[in-house]
Amino acid sequence: MKKWFAVIGNPISHSLSPFMHEKWLSELEIDASYIPIHVEEDNLEEAIMGLKLLGCSGWNVTVPYKEAIIPFLDDIDESAKGIGAVNTVVKTKDNRFIGYNTDGFGFIKSLGPINLEDNILIIGAGGAARGIVNAFKQGGFTNITIANRTAKNAEKMIHDLQIGHFITLNEAEAQLNSFDIVVQTTPQGMKNQANTLPIQLNKLKQHAIVADIVYNPLVTPFLEEATKYNARTINGLGMLVHQGAIAFSYWNGVYPKSEDMIDRLTENLGGNYVNR
Ligand code: ATR
Repeated sequence: MKKWFAVIGNPISHSLSPFMHEKWLSELEIDASYIPIHVEEDNLEEAIMGLKLLGCSGWNVTVPYKEAIIPFLDDIDESAKGIGAVNTVVKTKDNRFIGYNTDGFGFIKSLGPINLEDNILIIGAGGAARGIVNAFKQGGFTNITIANRTAKNAEKMIHDLQIGHFITLNEAEAQLNSFDIVVQTTPQGMKNQANTLPIQLNKLKQHAIVADIVYNPLVTPFLEEATKYNARTINGLGMLVHQGAIAFSYWNGVYPKSEDMIDRLTENLGGNYVNR
């Protein structure tokens, strides 16, 4: 039977994953397809049963089902355990369905070459920050600081993941020149959200890496500001592409051409922003 993959979510029509995976499958001449499936909340269990019965070889999970899917899987990998969220399901040879989370590793990959000793500042303590911090921890990074508006949310994340320490947003601004990598994970700067900066960047270290997980717009006000300090800026497209590429490699045993895909999506989204 021809292999097929899917992404489930609600809404799903905006997802860039079908475009990305279909392109990679055809480039690599893999006889398979990848389809978006809109799932209503009340039907999640039946939808997953359907995917399994109809021979789906693996699927991605997006908002709002990354946590809710876990009880329907046979096991979850370390990448998903620490954060309680799955974005990729892999079918094993013996027909078991295992949940992974490739978001955080995808994000780290999007940064390009970095050092284990780098001092990392994460701004925000929501689901996306959790995935990224967990991946840094699993990758062996130890110098992790979390700045967040609400102390108790950051402290809960630090307690759950057993890594990092908390500072306020004001402290982050004041200590900014001690960080090599600054990661913006709040929704600020996203289209239709507040256009404010989570922190001012005037103490940014020269040539620091500054990443924003937002990709719409491609250049957030935060990244725009960072370029004034000669930062190497990275938008959220790299994370999107690499999380997909890692999932693709789990399913197909080959890592697809991700840099070309970042360029192609950048073009599709109307930008000419080179983020590496
Ligand atoms: P996710 O999808 O990652 O779970 P989220 O829950 O929408 O995202 O946002 C998570 C983070 O953005 C939180 O750390 C939140 O701060 P609080 O813990 O104080 O709620 C942060 N955040 C959202 N809007 C913000 C704003 N206007 N200023 C500062 N931080 C903000």
